[in-house]
Amino acid sequence: MELIDGNLIAKQVLAELKTKIAELAGSVVPHIVVIRVGDDPASVSYVAKKQKTAAEIGMKSSLVLFPATATQAELEAKIDALNADASVHGILIQAPLPPHISETAIFNRVLPEKDVDGFSSVNVGRLVQELPNAVAACTPAGIVELLKRSGAETAGRHAVIVGRSLIVGKPAALLLLSKKLNATVTVCHSRTGNLPEIARQADILVAAIGKPKFVTEDMVKPGAVVIDVGINRVPDASKKNGYRLVGDVDFENVAPKCSLITPVPGGVGPMTVAMLMKNTLEACLRRNGFAV
Ligand code: GUN
Repeated sequence: MELIDGNLIAKQVLAELKTKIAELAGSVVPHIVVIRVGDDPASVSYVAKKQKTAAEIGMKSSLVLFPATATQAELEAKIDALNADASVHGILIQAPLPPHISETAIFNRVLPEKDVDGFSSVNVGRLVQELPNAVAACTPAGIVELLKRSGAETAGRHAVIVGRSLIVGKPAALLLLSKKLNATVTVCHSRTGNLPEIARQADILVAAIGKPKFVTEDMVKPGAVVIDVGINRVPDASKKNGYRLVGDVDFENVAPKCSLITPVPGGVGPMTVAMLMKNTLEACLRRNGFAV
């Protein structure tokens, strides 16, 4: 069993991006605007990480804060203004949004060219059509990068994705199915009848359910590549902050069976941020007529 070191691979990706940004020599500085609504602790921490990483690679980032009581119209007006602002290359609205807000309408409000999350229907459509200007969601794009850079073969392999979200499951399925990666893809979800039996057939198992330790040893084929997307906070009195992070995979018991596995933390998480930076740089390059 070998660990896929997401921290290390994210560092490599970010170093490459930093070089590319430096090569622009200030002729244009990629700029991402992050919108956070309310102060969900996980969102606060993710958004802070995104801003810190942007600064480290020479990218400009701005933060727009709204109270949890913000209205749909207020958010949409802000997005419209950012869409019209030529100095902004990427717009990200941190999910989840409060329940009175239509997330889909918000995601679709962002201009496809500034939609660095890849959540808009135009970008999802471009992904389905495998168009070169498709923006793929950051977490699935990060999974693909981890697989590539750790030498995991995808062509002809059976990839089983557990979870069908817009943010991970569905775009991950599309990427793995693409003519670049050529996996055979099965998507399982909460209503799948024989989930353990299907999971056991996976050469590549992607766990994106959001349930701590959902994937147990009996659900994994010996030698499988396991990608754990879960970042679950479970109470832990021995920790200073009162919680610890647990993946969707029962790591301790599953890891010995795998050829490759991502840890939590330090697996997929850092890659999501790195791919957001990559999507933003690419949006900036396209906007300014540079090759991507
Ligand atoms: N919430 C959890 N993951 C993500 C992500 O990749 N992008 C946004 N905008 N919100 C998220």
